[in-house]
Amino acid sequence: MKYPFSRILYGGDYNPNQWPREIWDEDMRLFQKAGINSATVNVFSWAKIQPNEETYDFSELDAIITMLSENGYDIVLATSTGAMPAWLVKRYPEVARVDYEGRRHKFGQRHNHCPNSPVYQRFARELARRLAQRYAGNPHIACWHVNNEYGGECFCPECEKAFRVWLRKKYGTLDALNKAWNTEFWGHTFYDWDEIVAPNALSEGIGPEKTAFAGISLDYRRFMSDSLLQNFKLERDAIRQFDKDTPITTNLMGTYKGLDYFKWAKEMDVVSWDNYPAYDTPWSFTAMRHDLMRGLKSAPFMLMEQTPSQQNWQPYNSLKKPGQMRAQSLQTIAHGADTIQFFQLRRSVGACEKFHGAVISHSGSEDTRVFREVSELGAELKELSGLIGADSPAEVGILFDWDNYWALEYTSGPTIDLKYVDQIHQYYRYFYERHIPVDMIPMDADFSQYKLIAAPVLYMVKEGVAERLEQFVSAGGTLITGFMSGLVDQSDNVHLGGYPGPLRKMCGIWAEEIDALAPGQQNTLRFPGGAESKCSLLCDLIRLEGAQPLCTYGEDFYAGTPAATKNKFGAGNVYYIGTQPEPVGLAKLLDDAVSAAGTKPLLDEPTPLEVTRRVKDGKTYWFVLNFTGSTQPLPACFGPGELPPFGAKIFCK
Ligand code: GLA
Ligand code: ZN
Repeated sequence: MKYPFSRILYGGDYNPNQWPREIWDEDMRLFQKAGINSATVNVFSWAKIQPNEETYDFSELDAIITMLSENGYDIVLATSTGAMPAWLVKRYPEVARVDYEGRRHKFGQRHNHCPNSPVYQRFARELARRLAQRYAGNPHIACWHVNNEYGGECFCPECEKAFRVWLRKKYGTLDALNKAWNTEFWGHTFYDWDEIVAPNALSEGIGPEKTAFAGISLDYRRFMSDSLLQNFKLERDAIRQFDKDTPITTNLMGTYKGLDYFKWAKEMDVVSWDNYPAYDTPWSFTAMRHDLMRGLKSAPFMLMEQTPSQQNWQPYNSLKKPGQMRAQSLQTIAHGADTIQFFQLRRSVGACEKFHGAVISHSGSEDTRVFREVSELGAELKELSGLIGADSPAEVGILFDWDNYWALEYTSGPTIDLKYVDQIHQYYRYFYERHIPVDMIPMDADFSQYKLIAAPVLYMVKEGVAERLEQFVSAGGTLITGFMSGLVDQSDNVHLGGYPGPLRKMCGIWAEEIDALAPGQQNTLRFPGGAESKCSLLCDLIRLEGAQPLCTYGEDFYAGTPAATKNKFGAGNVYYIGTQPEPVGLAKLLDDAVSAAGTKPLLDEPTPLEVTRRVKDGKTYWFVLNFTGSTQPLPACFGPGELPPFGAKIFCK
C-alpha cells in the first residue's frame, strides 16, 4: 500500500471543469505560490464524463490529470458517483430515492441515489472501473476518493426487498425475528417475510427521530449503513482490479449518525473526513471528532475537507479570524491527521456554494488575507512532514458505538432531551481540559491497553460486552458508566432483573427508578465535606449493593439517596454516575476516578491552552494551541512566552 504519504498533502477540492482553460494556468501559478501540493479532482463530474448511457468522454479529465501530473501534484482522484447525471434519473427513475415521507424524488441535488438500485450499482461500478483502468499506474495518484460523503436513507420498494433479504440472513426464521422485535406488542406478529415494510412515516416511524418499534427501525439503520457500505465496496473492488496499491478512501463526516463508521473503516485503507464546525462549536467537540476519526482505524487520518475561511450552509457563516485556520489545521494534525485539504481551491461562480470559502476568492487575487494565510501554512507544513504517521498514545478510552447512538435516541422516554453525542462529549471535555489524551474506541477494542474506560450512556449492552468490561476491571482497570446504561440488548429489549442489567454486578448498585427532570428543573449533588453542585436531565434512584456512595441528592423525595457511586471489583473500580452533573460536579467525580486509575495528564501545570502530542521514532511533537479568545502565558515547561488568541506552537522534544 502506498500509504502513509511521503509528504503532508496540502490542497483540496479542485474543479477546473467549472472554469475556462486560461484559468487553469493561473491556478497552477497560484497553487505553487501557496505551497499547495495536492488536488482532489473529479468529485462531481459524472455528467461530464458520461454525457449519455452509451458514451464515455475522458478528454477533459485527461487534460486535468496531465496538467496536475506535469506540475508534480499528488492527485486525490474521486469517482464522481456522489451526484448522478440527469439522463440517468430520467431514463431509470428507480435510481432516485424514496424519502422518509414516502415520496419518490426526481432529479436534483446530490447524494441521492438508491443504494439498492441494481441500475445505480451497475453504472457506478462501471464508472469506477473505467476510471481505474484509465488512470491506475499514474504515479501522481496518491489516493482514490470513492463517491462523496455517503449518507441519507432510502425507503423504496427495491430497498424494502433487499431489507427482507438482509433480515432473513440475520434471523433465519420469522420466529426469531418476531421475538427480537417483540412483535407480540400491539399484535404486530409477522407470518410472511413480505409483510415486513420499511419503517418510515407511512409505517412504524413517529417522526424521523422516533419509532413505535425500535427493533425494526434499528435494523433498518444497520441495513442502510450496510447498503451504502456495499456501494463503497463495489467501487473499491472495481478500482482494485486495476490498482493494487494506491489507498482507497471515502470522506466521512465525524459523528454523522447515519453510518456505522467503525464498520466502514474496516473496509477503508485510510480514514478521511470533512471538518465543518459551526461558529459556536466548542473546540473540545472538534477535538473529540478528530479523535473519533483517528479511533476508527486506530491510525492517522486524512482531513479531506475544511474551509479556508467561510461556509455557506450553516445558518451563520462567520469568517475564520486571522490565525484561526492555521490553529484549526494544527489542531487537526495534533489529533492525528496527516493531510490538510480544503473545500475548495477556487470559489465557484454559481449555485448554492458560490459563497463557500476557497483559497482563491471571486476577486481572483492573491492579495487577500485568506490566500496569505493559506500560503503561510503551506510553507509551515512542508517543515512538518517528519511527523507523518506519528502515534497518539492514550491511557483513556471513551466508548463510542453507533448501535448505542441509534438505540438511545430512538427510545420513547424517559426524556426527549437525551442526545448521545452530547453525553459522550461531556465526558470527553473533562479529559480535554485536563490534557489527558483520549482514544475514542469501539466495543470490540482491546480494553486491556487502557487504564481507564469511560462508557457514558452505555444503553445497549450487546453480547459479550459486559463480560469483557468485567475482565478489564477485575484486572485493575477503572470503568466509568452511569445513567441509561446496561438497559437493553442488541434488539432494544430490556435486560430483565433490574437496571443496569448486566453491569449491575460490577457497579454494585441497583437503579430502581429513573426520574426525568424537565428543562429548568434541577437537583443538587451533596458531597461529603459539604461541597454542592447541580444536576439535571435524569436522576437514577440508586440502591447500594456493595458500592460506596460518592454524593447524594439534595432534593425531592429521594433526597439523601446516592447519586453517584464507586465499587471495588476485583483489582479495579467501577464508577456509576446516576445523573447529569454540571461540569464542576462531574469533574469532582472524574478526578476521583482518574486518580484511582493512576492516569497522568500530559502536564502538571493547569492551563486553559490545548496541549496535545504525537510521537514518532522517539521524538515527541507537542502542540500548544490557544482557543481561549485571549492571550495566555505558555506553561512553564514550554515557556517563557505567551500565545495570542489562535496562537499555536509546536515543540519538538
Ligand atoms: C461537503 C461536501 C463538499 C462541499 C462542502 C461544503 O463537505 O463534501 O462537496 O459541499 O461540504 O462545505
Ligand atoms: Zn431504495
